This record gives sequence, structure tokens and C-alpha cells, in this order.
Amino acid sequence: MIADMMAAPPESEGLHDSPLGIRLAAESAAGIWHAIAADLAAAAASARHPLHLLTVATVDVAGAPHARTVVLRGFDADCREVWFHTDSRSPKAEQIGADARVALHWYDATRRLQIRIPARAVIHHGDAIAATAWHASRPMSRACYTTSEPPGQALEAFLPAPSPPAADDDRGLASFAVVCCRFDTLELLVLHASGHERVRLRLTGIEPIREILAP
Ligand SMILES: Cc1cc2nc3c(=O)[nH]c(=O)nc-3n(C[C@H](O)[C@H](O)[C@H](O)COP(=O)(O)O)c2cc1C
Repeated sequence: MIADMMAAPPESEGLHDSPLGIRLAAESAAGIWHAIAADLAAAAASARHPLHLLTVATVDVAGAPHARTVVLRGFDADCREVWFHTDSRSPKAEQIGADARVALHWYDATRRLQIRIPARAVIHHGDAIAATAWHASRPMSRACYTTSEPPGQALEAFLPAPSPPAADDDRGLASFAVVCCRFDTLELLVLHASGHERVRLRLTGIEPIREILAP
């Protein structure tokens, strides 16, 4: 997984230009949604974007929470989906298989912006979606899926970095998964000395609905 974390996807244009305004009060619900959607699409395309990494929280069968960092691999505003790649042998994959509820979290310290998204996750493993994402990924990103030790396994010593496989070596595909997280609402919090702004967007109607919340 380490190589996957370090791999930089292709850069997009305008990656430092955040379309999200800093004052939520000045924006309509549709304006906020369009801006955050553009921001997350840009974040999926650029390793230098401040929202490129997110925290994904899951619960295990005992109800205990688990949170970890992942790379944002894709965002689809129309389907209201965020996706990331993972190892199908990992504890998080098992947790999602037992309980699809996940919480997604980002914090951009420069803009003092927090994004929280409750979602339901679907694991694509051994299907066309996983195969397409696998073939689009870089050899360096694929390397971590070739290890014989699954994530979280106890070891006697640290493992050496796995070598990037040849372009036609698809052995890692057996443990490669795409996790698609679909959502209906999201929450934003922007910190201001003059008054913090927190809103929830409800996205299932024809137009987004904005609810102002106490921060
Ligand atoms: C910067 C960074 C990026 C990471 N990206 C991913 C990722 O895209 N997918 C992933 O499964 N794990 C990623 N990891 C590793 C996870 O945080 C976690 O340690 C690993 O997936 C095992 O999680 P689990 O035991 O909860 O399943 C990343 C870690 C860091 C620090």
C-alpha cells in the first residue's frame, strides 16, 4: 500500500485554484455544491491538491470505529460518488463487507475547511470496475498488491519495498479493489474569526438544499 500512497496521479490544470469560495453565507446551495464538486474532482486528479488525501472511517463487527488515510481516486458529482483503491484482503475491506456505512473526512488547513460525508460503500473486486482501474494504475501503485502478506498481518521484521511489476503482470489484480462510496448529504465547516460557518447539503432533490447548522 505504501507505493500506492506515494504514487502521484497525472496533474490537472489549475490545481492550486480552489473553486470553493471561503464564505458559505454568500453562496446558494447549488453554488456551494458546484464548487465543492469541482474541488473534489480536481483533488482526485492531483496529488498536490490539499483534498487529495481523505480519512475513511468504518466500524467493525463489534461496533468499534476504525479510521485511516486513503488517496482520493475519483469523484462523480452526478452519481454522488467518491472512490478509492484498497487491498481486498485488508481489515477495512472486511469491515465494509459486513457494514457498508462509512464516514469520509477531509481538512484543508489553508482554507480552514472541513468536509464530512456519510456514505455507503460498495467494494468492486474481481469485476469490470476493478479491472479498468487496475489497468489505468501505474506499476508503482500496483506493486503493493503483489505482497503475500495481507495488510495488518503481524510480522517478525519490516518488509522491503515490493518491486513494481512489469506492465503485463496482473497478479496483483487478485487483491486489488475499488471502493465506491455513495452519499446523499455532505457537511462543510469553514472557520472564520468573524463567525464559523457550517452547512449541510441535501442532494437528493432536483436542486440541493442547504441547512445552516450551529458550528
Ligand atoms: C498518505 C497515505 C495514503 C494512503 N493511501 C491509501 C489508499 O489509497 N488505500 C489504502 O487502502 N490504504 C492507504 N493508506 C494506508 C491506510 O492508511 C491503512 O494503513 C491501510 O490501508 C490499512 O488499513 P486497514 O487496516 O484499516 O484496512 C494510506 C496511508 C497514508 C499514510
